[in-house]
Amino acid sequence: MTNHEYIDFLEQNQFLPREDLRVLLDRHDETDAAYLFERARAVRERFYGKAVYLRGLIEFSSHCKNDCYYCGLRRSNPAAERYRLTKEEILFCCAEGYELGFRTFVLQSGEDPWFTDERMTDIVAAIRAAHPDCAITLSLGERSRESYAALFAAGADRYLLRHETANAAHYARLHPDELRLTTRMDCLRTLREIGYQVGCGFMVGSPGQTTDCLLDDLGFLREFQPEMVGIGPFLPHHGTPFAGEAAGTLEQTLFLLGILRLLLPAVLLPATTALGTVHATGREQGLRAGANIVMPNLSPVGVRKKYLLYDNKICTGEEAAECRVCLQRRVEGAGYEIVASRGDPISISTG
Ligand code: SAM
Ligand code: SF4
Ligand code: FES
Repeated sequence: MTNHEYIDFLEQNQFLPREDLRVLLDRHDETDAAYLFERARAVRERFYGKAVYLRGLIEFSSHCKNDCYYCGLRRSNPAAERYRLTKEEILFCCAEGYELGFRTFVLQSGEDPWFTDERMTDIVAAIRAAHPDCAITLSLGERSRESYAALFAAGADRYLLRHETANAAHYARLHPDELRLTTRMDCLRTLREIGYQVGCGFMVGSPGQTTDCLLDDLGFLREFQPEMVGIGPFLPHHGTPFAGEAAGTLEQTLFLLGILRLLLPAVLLPATTALGTVHATGREQGLRAGANIVMPNLSPVGVRKKYLLYDNKICTGEEAAECRVCLQRRVEGAGYEIVASRGDPISISTG
């Protein structure tokens, strides 16, 4: 079969045998990529039209007890600047976001034990009470079943926990021994059982990532059928063990976005900040490759530079309103339109 035929098969079946997918990932040219993106756009438009949904990101704590080798917030980076937003500051970010048309708030942090279940449920309940028409997404890392359940009961709807890699050996290359792929997978299944809309995902081009790792990722995603998949290029941070490693590329990230759109047709797929960092028009190109979400930053400008996962992160100096206007322009330039709604996933039955 030709690569175009593989792409057609993937679109029609939401599936391609592993070895055929390998050929597509390893041996494609620009014409194949252009065809993939054309099909990915057709599929996203069939489900979502031209709509792009907004997620307002509030990075509320840069403290982290974990030591992921890739991340600038890791506990062993003594130069990382640590901060915590207060409940009032978080609510202010939401109120400002609401005025700007956001109907989803994503609360993200390092794994910070200061935010106990008691403190975190109090914050979630306050946002739920202030904004009953909004979705609340959490991205707090690994917590207990009781914790996830309490946060859900307090009003959270969605949880983002990237699986990072579905290959155990690769997981061990990216994390110290205390962090295990089995734990992460257990968390994802627990979140699903509790009733959250769940987001998984991985970095593209992380150190040690092979085609087999990516095939494992795609196999896992097809099986798990998450509502959201966050992918972006790995970008090195100067204060981590991976400081000297090469960054993931724009091209490979775009290609994988296109593949994901065909594999999981109704999935919510962000054009990430990391994609906008690796290339000036990365997010626009992501939208043209099948993405349908953008996640502008709603964190106070004073703390933005302190939430540095990787070097040269964009949008660290702009106010929330500036990013909102900037993204409106970018999304429209790519031929799409921002929609002020919660942006829930469309449910379909896939073959
Ligand atoms: N602490 C929570 C967790 O790990 O799930 C949420 C915050 S964490 C900073 C969010 C995501 O950032 C991670 O899942 C990881 O994929 C991504 N990330 C961390 N370091 C990165 C890097 N150097 N390049 C690209 N993405 C990175
Ligand atoms: Fe902490 Fe998340 Fe960074 Fe890992 S990726 S060090 S858990 S903030
Ligand atoms: Fe933040 Fe463009 S999206 S400045």
